[in-house]
Amino acid sequence: MSLYERIPNNVGLSSDKRLLRALEHWLPNYMQWWSDMGPEGFQADDVYLRTATSVEPGGWAHFDYVKMPDYRWGIFLAPPEHDRRIGFGDHFGLPAWQEVPGEYRNMLRRLIVTQGDTEPASVEQQRLLGQSAPSLYDLRNLFQVNVEEGRHLWAMVYLLHSYFGRDGREESEELLERRSGSSDKPRILEAFNEPIEDWLSFYMFTTFTDRDGKYQLLALAESGFDPLSRTTRFMLTEEAHHMFVGESGVRRVVRRACEIMRETGDDDVRRQGGIDLPTVQKYINLWFSLSLDLFGGEVSSNAANFFSAGMKGRAQEPKYQDHLALEGSYPVAGEEIPLRNAMNEVLRDSYIEDCEKCLERWNRVITEHEIPYRLRLPDRRFHRHIGAYAAHRFDPAGHRLSAEQWNERRDEFLPGEKDFAYVRNLNAPVMEVGKIAHWISKPTTGIHGMPFEFEYVRRERN
Ligand SMILES: [Fe+2]
Ligand SMILES: [Fe+2]
Repeated sequence: MSLYERIPNNVGLSSDKRLLRALEHWLPNYMQWWSDMGPEGFQADDVYLRTATSVEPGGWAHFDYVKMPDYRWGIFLAPPEHDRRIGFGDHFGLPAWQEVPGEYRNMLRRLIVTQGDTEPASVEQQRLLGQSAPSLYDLRNLFQVNVEEGRHLWAMVYLLHSYFGRDGREESEELLERRSGSSDKPRILEAFNEPIEDWLSFYMFTTFTDRDGKYQLLALAESGFDPLSRTTRFMLTEEAHHMFVGESGVRRVVRRACEIMRETGDDDVRRQGGIDLPTVQKYINLWFSLSLDLFGGEVSSNAANFFSAGMKGRAQEPKYQDHLALEGSYPVAGEEIPLRNAMNEVLRDSYIEDCEKCLERWNRVITEHEIPYRLRLPDRRFHRHIGAYAAHRFDPAGHRLSAEQWNERRDEFLPGEKDFAYVRNLNAPVMEVGKIAHWISKPTTGIHGMPFEFEYVRRERN
């Protein structure tokens, strides 16, 4: 069986000479990248993973043990929509493009490369985390997220190879050459250059940064370039699990903190070996604000151009009334901005609303334990590096601070070295079946109907 016959796909790969030739080159480099930058120390283990083998409801989540380098990364598009039309912008109502429109070629390539770059970046950021997993269940979830981010890279590379010729192939190689955190060839977006060295950061990243990914994908799923729309629609089905890993992970940390306070009568959760709620709050402040930056500037002519061109819409565009957005305005930083220029902020607002729901779920756990504490999202002005608020300092409530006040109070708002060190030091690995680290509670259910006490990762014994 040739390597290519092993690639699950619904894009007619076996008869697509051009794509086969391009993959022939790219695939060995991808495998090399995975072995260099994928999860370190677990490549020989059998991991209970889901693999997408088709886009049918029963086919896209096939569960079995697999060694990660043998994972069957596939290429899938959501099924075509009959007579699909462009849903917004200057070409509203015309048939969706099946080929790249020449005038938007560069714009489209840039959108695809920027999205594609985040996928391997997150694998790189998380590559050492497995070595401190709180349970085999969590270890498996980390690897599931990692292999699927690998597949999301494939999804973008498929578009580059199929629709962009030579420069598409070059971009595909460069996606494997940039490295998260490298000073030389860093990843494109800043939040993807921060290493993730502890599990609370991982849960925050999958809650807030993967959720940014969800909103970017929702906006691209509306694209008038149909192959991009269909690719991202299928990616969204996988993304849901990543956000579940994050949201439920934080929830279990919060639950454990509450249990510890209740069981010991000691409010000093750290003294009892858990992660205290104020530390959780600081991590929220950090990862939420980093993720807000990923939406770009509040007022953006790029965003207006993406929208006009019909390349990137709003999340769930059909729910809006006016798909031209030529009239009307949107409030941004106390001013009314022409709607098309405010598209980043429109998307950011949908995102913030979604994040609020996570906070509600976390706070419900605290309320159930009758503990008078509430976790909050910081104000959108807090700790921003991009856009209208980047020039000034604000506290998490959105009050302006002088540089001096900020320096004095920074460690109240954001995790400092001591906080990171504390959380990192808790992260002694727990690799026994059915066992869990002290600082996090067990999940209420396992994966795919399996109990928590299941050998989600069979460690190689040597
Ligand atoms: Fe992804
Ligand atoms: Fe993801």
